[in-house]
Amino acid sequence: MTEVKTQPITSLEDVPKPRFRHLLGIEPLEAWEIWSFLHAAAFFKRYLQISPQSSIPNSLTGKSLVTLFYEPSTRTRTSFEMAARKLGMGVTHIAVAAASVVKGESLKDTVLTLYALGYDAFVIRHSHSGAPHFVARVLEERARQTNGKVPSVLNAGDGMHEHPTQALLDLLTMWEVFGRIEGLKVAFVGDILHSRVARSGMWALLKLGAEVRFVGPPTMVPEGFATFGVRICRTLPEAVRDADVVYLLRLQLERQQAGLFPSINEYHRLFGMDLRKLQELCPQALVMHPGPMNRGVEIASDLADSEKARILDQVTNGVAVRMAVLWLLLSE
Ligand code: CP
Repeated sequence: MTEVKTQPITSLEDVPKPRFRHLLGIEPLEAWEIWSFLHAAAFFKRYLQISPQSSIPNSLTGKSLVTLFYEPSTRTRTSFEMAARKLGMGVTHIAVAAASVVKGESLKDTVLTLYALGYDAFVIRHSHSGAPHFVARVLEERARQTNGKVPSVLNAGDGMHEHPTQALLDLLTMWEVFGRIEGLKVAFVGDILHSRVARSGMWALLKLGAEVRFVGPPTMVPEGFATFGVRICRTLPEAVRDADVVYLLRLQLERQQAGLFPSINEYHRLFGMDLRKLQELCPQALVMHPGPMNRGVEIASDLADSEKARILDQVTNGVAVRMAVLWLLLSE
C-alpha cells in the first residue's frame, strides 16, 4: 500500500505517481493519489512564489495541450492554459463556437481530428455527464489501432457529475489554512443537485477524513448522498454552527427546472449568506465559493469582499493544482 504523507514535501521525486493516465473524477482515486496531487501542487505553488514569471525548466517542454470547452469558463480554462505554459507545453484553445462543431461535427470526430494532430493532453468541459470518459475511450481505441500513445484526458467539469481539479484546488486552500484535512467540518450550501463541485469536493473530503454536510432547498439536496457518509442538514444554522468551512455553491440558473425553489429572494433569505449572518451563525468559519458568484443570491458582496472569504485564494491555487495534475500525468 502506498504511504500517505500529510506534511509538505520538498522534492517532486518524493511524490508517488497516480495509477491513472487520465483525471476523469475524484471518485476513483485513493487517498494517497489525492495527496500526491496536493503535495505536487504545494511544491509548484512555492516555486511560483519564488519565481512567479518563470517556467519550470525541462519539465513538459515539447508536449502539447488542447482545451476543448463546450461550456463557458474563465477560471478553469485560463489556469489550465497558464499551468501548461509554465511547464513549457504548447497550448491550443478550441473556441467551440468558432470550430467545425457548429457545422455539425460530432465530439468523436472532433477528438479524433485533434488526436491526428498529435496532442498529448485534452482538457474538456461539457454539459453532458460522462463526456470526458467518452473522449478517453475514443482516444484509447484510436491509439490501439494506430499503435500510438494514449493522450491524457482531464475533466474540466462534466454536467452534474465531477469537477476534479476544482476539488483539488479547494482542498489545497483548506490545507494551507488549517494545516490538515482530516477532521475538518465542511458545509456545502445551496444547489447540491446540479453541483459537480459539491460531488467532487465530497469525494475528496470524505476520502481524506473530513466531515461533509449538505444543506439547501430540499428539492436541491438529494437524500441519497447520506449513503456515502454525508450529513444531510435541514437548516442553514444546523449545517454551519461549528463548521470550519462554509462552501457556498453557485445557484446554477442555467440548469434549473421550474419549481425547485420558490424565488431568488426566498433562496437568498434561507440559504444565502452575508457578513452579518456569518458572524451570527458561525463566526469561526471561512467562506469558499467556486465562482462565478451570483452576488446578492448565494453570497452578498459584503461577505464576498471580506477577509472571511478565500475565493481569490482558490483561484490562485488553480494554477499550481493544474501544474501538479499535468506534471503527474504527463511527465516521463
Ligand atoms: N470554478 C469554475 O469552474 O469556474 P469557471 O467556470 O470560470 O471555469
